Amino acid sequence: MAEVRCDIQRVMEMTAFNRDYLADALELFDAEGWDAYTADPELTHRALTAPGSTVVVALDGAEVAGLVQLQSDGEIQAHLSALVVGNRWRGQDLGRRLLREALHRAGGVRIDLLTHAGRYYETLGAEPRTGFRIQRDVLDT
Ligand SMILES: CC(C)(COP(=O)(O)OP(=O)(O)OC[C@H]1O[C@@H](n2cnc3c(N)ncnc32)[C@H](O)[C@@H]1OP(=O)(O)O)[C@@H](O)C(=O)NCCC(=O)NCCS
Repeated sequence: MAEVRCDIQRVMEMTAFNRDYLADALELFDAEGWDAYTADPELTHRALTAPGSTVVVALDGAEVAGLVQLQSDGEIQAHLSALVVGNRWRGQDLGRRLLREALHRAGGVRIDLLTHAGRYYETLGAEPRTGFRIQRDVLDT
């Protein structure tokens, strides 16, 4: 069956994440195979509502079309933790709109991020930098 694409003009509302949006958010994460977000829904809820975390969802009616999570100091630095747009809503600039909305809400003048989708961020005007990730078990050894 042909995929039904959604008209982005209907995705008007950007609002703060809360528990009502958890099931839809988990579906978006699951579609990307993001196991760290899907293994334990309550843990994910705590992560998405943690202090210092700004999470915005884009709504298409009652359905979550996309989600962004930033961590910010409120003034200078923001770090991207997650950005996902549902397949049906892609290619209509929703990713950029989510990033812009979250940065305005969180505060900060720039966003740093780690990603496997570098080309996407370059199309948004991002400049590449070297990044690293240290796992907790490595520090603990
Ligand atoms: C990356 C993502 C958030 C972009 O959302 P979006 O709302 O479709 O973004 P935009 O409409 O602003 O831009 C879409 C453009 O980015 C391109 N793009 C999307 N994912 C890309 C990727 N991984 N690498 C390169 N380009 C990508 C699309 O081909 C499209 O290009 P076009 O406009 O020339 O057709 C969305 O594709 C997504 O959720 N992907 C899966 C999760 C993911 O990779 N998140 C980022 C990891 S931090």
